[in-house]
Amino acid sequence: MAKSKKKGKSTVKERVRVLIQGARIQKRIRELAKEIRRDFPDEQLHLVSVLKGGVFFLTDLARKIPGEVSFDFIAVSSYGENTHSSGQVRLTRDLDSSIEGRTVIVVEDILDTGMTLQYLLRLFQQRNPKHLRVAVLLDKPGRRIAAVQADYVGFSIPNEFVVGYGLDYSERYRNLPYVGVLMLGGEAQEQAPKK
Ligand code: PRP
Repeated sequence: MAKSKKKGKSTVKERVRVLIQGARIQKRIRELAKEIRRDFPDEQLHLVSVLKGGVFFLTDLARKIPGEVSFDFIAVSSYGENTHSSGQVRLTRDLDSSIEGRTVIVVEDILDTGMTLQYLLRLFQQRNPKHLRVAVLLDKPGRRIAAVQADYVGFSIPNEFVVGYGLDYSERYRNLPYVGVLMLGGEAQEQAPKK
């Protein structure tokens, strides 16, 4: 059990309540991988993941999709304190290769307000892929601002701040093999707590 690190201030107990066990995540990813391959039986699939959180999902998904798969990475950041709700998303690292004429699957750990995905879909559509689809491990439909949706969804979850399996709180917890709800002082958080 970790405690907050602020010196000289009262410490708030911080813990993670398991929401989705690692084995359930892996089982669901196997199903998604089959579904994706069924939809594109003869295509080479080009998986594009968004750094950093999406990487865990991408590597597990890529290993479970039969047939030819390649991948690439992109990074974005959001202006303002309130990460995504400002809607100002900016490209910080572009893909290495062209996606023109390719069957592209955008692979994201979480679909929250949808601002990141809306930005990415607009960007990628301009580059003329043959197909453009979206796979997300977690979907928080209750938080949506942008009118976007995923084609493949692992789990739909409530409005609680989740960590693990790529998702972080101040860069911590990404390495947990499961997804959990961050609890501060016994309370679940709806958004990233102020540091
Ligand atoms: C997370 C996640 C998505 C985005 C979704 O990334 O990986 O890219 O937020 O949020 P949205 O639907 O509200 O736009 P984050 O900015 O936390 O970066 P990280 O992957 O490096 O942790």
